[in-house]
Amino acid sequence: MRTKLFKFAFIVGLAILVSSCAREETPTDSLKGALDGKFLIGTALNSIQIYGDDSAATEIIVRNFNSIVAENCMKSEIIQPEEGVFDFRQSDAMVDFGVAYDMYIVGHCLIWHSQAPDWLFMDAGGKYVSREVLIERMKTHITTLVERYKGRVDAWIVVNEAFLDDGSWRNSRFYDIIGPAYIELAFQFAHEADPKAELLYNDNSMFHEGKRNSVVELVNDLKSKGIRIDGVGMQAHSGLDSIPPLDEFEKSIEAFDAAGVDVHVTELDITVIPLLSRDIGAEVSADFKYWEMMDPYPNGLPDSVSIALHDRYMEFFDLFLRQHDKIKRVTVWGLTDDQSWRNYWPIQGRTDYPLLYDRNYDAKPVVADIIKAAQSLEE
Ligand code: XIL
Repeated sequence: MRTKLFKFAFIVGLAILVSSCAREETPTDSLKGALDGKFLIGTALNSIQIYGDDSAATEIIVRNFNSIVAENCMKSEIIQPEEGVFDFRQSDAMVDFGVAYDMYIVGHCLIWHSQAPDWLFMDAGGKYVSREVLIERMKTHITTLVERYKGRVDAWIVVNEAFLDDGSWRNSRFYDIIGPAYIELAFQFAHEADPKAELLYNDNSMFHEGKRNSVVELVNDLKSKGIRIDGVGMQAHSGLDSIPPLDEFEKSIEAFDAAGVDVHVTELDITVIPLLSRDIGAEVSADFKYWEMMDPYPNGLPDSVSIALHDRYMEFFDLFLRQHDKIKRVTVWGLTDDQSWRNYWPIQGRTDYPLLYDRNYDAKPVVADIIKAAQSLEE
């Protein structure tokens, strides 16, 4: 009896301790505190942050974010650079980081035409492999990753960027060799490896009507075949004005929700420097040499542009808050401006300001305004 009482007291004590720690870890004046109950708020981690070598960044991340995703280290060319040779050093550290801080961990990404190693598609003679071989390699890749992080990675981006903006199929090597069935196979393999992890389809430029319709069709098709898909990710690499048009972006949120899946805003950033073209989407293979005319703010942002950026971020978050019942997570693609891929994509060596924290690691004023907007929604 005494042992039972002691056990009970111990468990109650532990629960009180855990809940008070949790309270302390979620200050209401942080992003994650203010957005609690609305949607998860995430950031993408680079290698330095993953290894905890940037303590100032760690502090901001732990205080403000309750979800993480790796910016690069889980992509196939990095995690399986040669057939059967897996490099889990960074991905293990990323997952340990997320588990240590009780975060919602996203695996990005299992099947994507970019940042995929050539060996995946080739035989020893340099010819494309058969459909059967590619399916087998895909299965091994997916199963190895998903089983390794079973019970720890909460959600996987199973397939990234299968469609073009008009909704037609992208002629990736997965599509060319396997045909459209590569998507359902990928989802099935992921499901078999971890029936509890959430499984997502992710794409850029989701505001386009054609892409929206094809993704809805994909969701319906998978569901009608009894294949599980839990969410759709909308990348949201954005510009100051028309990309994306927010009314069209909102229509896509509503369409995916109506198709019965969670909506994740997966890669939000807002560039303030000139876009190369309205239609560039987020095609990571674009790689242009430095071009001075396209780099207007190397020494700091004029007030008028800072204000425009602030307003644009608020338009996004006002939309997310209005639609919070449909949105599971909003993830910003990076933490501080100096580390954003926008400084080197699609033109090398520019100075951009696309994120919520500046080059001194200070929160931009918009962070406080997002917190205020989230808090005022409760009243
Ligand atoms: C980007 C990374 O941020 C860069 O560091 C890398 O050089 C290229 O890829 N869509 C995606 C992300 O799904 O994985 C890409 O990330 C950005 C576009």
